[in-house]
Amino acid sequence: MEPFRYHAYICTQEKPDPEAPSCPGRGSQEVVEAMRAELGKAGLADEVQVTTCGSLGLCTRGPNMVVYPEGVWYSGVQVEDVSEIVSEHFQNGQPIKRLVNEDAAAVKAEILENKRKALAKLKAAQEAQADR
Ligand code: FES
Repeated sequence: MEPFRYHAYICTQEKPDPEAPSCPGRGSQEVVEAMRAELGKAGLADEVQVTTCGSLGLCTRGPNMVVYPEGVWYSGVQVEDVSEIVSEHFQNGQPIKRLVNEDAAAVKAEILENKRKALAKLKAAQEAQADR
């Protein structure tokens, strides 16, 4: 079941370390606001659901967004890209190629490697805490 024509998840994951790469640090909240405004102007507010979400695992290349039902992974989305995404992807069904991660296997590998690094960092922090 797909209640909306499209469902866009935009990462707004805040990081405890303000120096850590993050989507909001690169403007994702502004992208969310621009997307909602542009969808409203295009009359698509009830057809394209926008949901903010936690980290998508591509933190150094944000703002990141995943669009279903196709499963299109966008990276580096800026406010300036939003009207094109709305008109070309959400109205005409054509994702914006320059912003799309085309290699699903590479995306998966990058996400898993970033997850491995994050878990190792967390484990080291927990061990350092336990040693005190
Ligand atoms: S902070 Fe957005 S993908 Fe990690």
